Amino acid sequence: MCGIFGMVNGHPVAKDLLTGLQRLEYRGYDSAGIATLDNGEFQRRRSVGCVSHLESLIRSLPLPGHAGIAHTRWATHGPASERNAHPHIVGRVALVHNGIVENDVALRAGLTRRGRIPQSDTDSELLAMLLDELLEAGKTPVDALRALADQVEGSYAVAMLVQGEGDEIFVTRRGSPLVVSYREGASLLSSDAQALGELASEVIPLADGDVAVLSHDPPVIFDQERTRVTRKARDVEHRKAPTKENFDSFMLKEIHEQPDTIRRTLMDLSSSELSLSSLGSATSLTLAACGTSYYACLLARRWLEEAAGVPVQVELASEFRYREPPLLPGTVLIVVSQSGETADTLAALRYAKEHVRTAAIVNVDDSSMAREADLVIPTRAGTEIGVASTKAFTAQLAALASVASTLRHGCDVDFRELNSAPMAIREVLALSPLLREHAQKLARASRVIYLGRGAGHALAMEGALKLKEIAYVHAEGFAAGELKHGPLALVEPGTPVVAIAPSGPLQAKTLANLQEAKARGAEILVLTDAAGALPAETVGEVVVLPSGRPYLRALIDSVALQLLAYHGASSLGRDVDRPRNLAKSVTVE
Ligand code: M6R
Repeated sequence: MCGIFGMVNGHPVAKDLLTGLQRLEYRGYDSAGIATLDNGEFQRRRSVGCVSHLESLIRSLPLPGHAGIAHTRWATHGPASERNAHPHIVGRVALVHNGIVENDVALRAGLTRRGRIPQSDTDSELLAMLLDELLEAGKTPVDALRALADQVEGSYAVAMLVQGEGDEIFVTRRGSPLVVSYREGASLLSSDAQALGELASEVIPLADGDVAVLSHDPPVIFDQERTRVTRKARDVEHRKAPTKENFDSFMLKEIHEQPDTIRRTLMDLSSSELSLSSLGSATSLTLAACGTSYYACLLARRWLEEAAGVPVQVELASEFRYREPPLLPGTVLIVVSQSGETADTLAALRYAKEHVRTAAIVNVDDSSMAREADLVIPTRAGTEIGVASTKAFTAQLAALASVASTLRHGCDVDFRELNSAPMAIREVLALSPLLREHAQKLARASRVIYLGRGAGHALAMEGALKLKEIAYVHAEGFAAGELKHGPLALVEPGTPVVAIAPSGPLQAKTLANLQEAKARGAEILVLTDAAGALPAETVGEVVVLPSGRPYLRALIDSVALQLLAYHGASSLGRDVDRPRNLAKSVTVE
């Protein structure tokens, strides 16, 4: 993960680098740092925690220099500390790195044998050490970067400053994304095109193995054969950095945006030229995703099975990519991802592309998955800043419902009912104070169990993920029917059990399972609808949510679960937008 940014300009670059880092912070916020070249000498500022800490440091200790590289870190090797923060400086080299060095143990041992002792725990510093060694051996910066490919296993996007080379930045990539850009004497680089914001209107994505030199002139790019090449530029849309408006967190704002984001996603899919019917000839569907996106797939499996009348497999992308299961001709593999960059999901897509047709349900238009899948089914959640997926999840459900409805080829009353989703979601949002009261109880517990059947099972897992992710309360979601096969042992007097139990044929079964938990002292909270509402003394506390058929039901229940997690986490004073140890886009496996 991590984010890298860099700039050469005719004036000091620290301010623009900080702005770039702020836009990249979703990639990791364990520590941040900037190094510049000022009159041929390195200047460096690093700090633990988010970019605002680095900003304060630079305010008190200004950072001069017209060429600089910047980094925001999601720790992989070694804890978040100043020592482990990038840029790493070794001899003539200052370096930032995004990616993972897989042979770091061997590299560290080799460097140590050669008398070079790393100062940090990171794999990235080893790259700086190797490059400095190569420069000492007489290689040019471009050749040194190219030589990395022979010594390093794993993925990297690297930007380096070299003392004695003037205001130039040398970059290369393998496996990790990197774009460069040029405008009126200023060169830029970033691991994410969007982070360039208003500074660039077009970017040049580098190909694997490219090495580029950034200066006051347009970037010079060499391919892995050392041939000078021209890479195609593409436009980037100028998007203003989103603000929290009147909300106290991005997550709460994003929860409240759902009436619009769902409507937009549905409208866009119904009015676009997109031919989802090309999925109609599939003899089976395989869905692959991670985290919350995986739960969206699990939830929609039954919708798709019923609609298409073909088998539907749902796979965790991180398992699927290494299991490499046979994909029979006629199968369509659909990846689902907010970012379109999740490393495991992207790998699943690339594996499947060698065998079958592919589609991507994805929220970021210019993401790798959007570019590589045969068919793109866009979600229109807009930029999601909160690490917890909320509006992206419900937009994925809306898109999956849209796919199911297209495959059904006929009158689909369940799908038509989604026209009323914005109104129903506003009704759930109005229940926020009531949900907050319940959430405060969940937040005080040492563990929370979520139960459901059918779609409720996927929602139970998603609800539990949300609570543990942002409140750090241990929560697990189970199929209600599984309770007595093991999880019931976790129930003791006072254990909260949240049940997703709308009216319908499965409700009585779930309620019976809840009685089993209640008999062991569990404190039950049932999320249901008017037709499924029961007196509190029957089973426990009840929150009555708006009614809806399966597609709408899933959206309604999702929003209620998001609010429970949000209020639980806020009552504990958590930073809901930036939960500890996590990052928004998981670009390492
Ligand atoms: O960008 P993606 O949808 O591919 O991300 C997958 C997961 O990393 C993501 O859904 C994660 O589980 C969320 N933070 C959960 O809220």
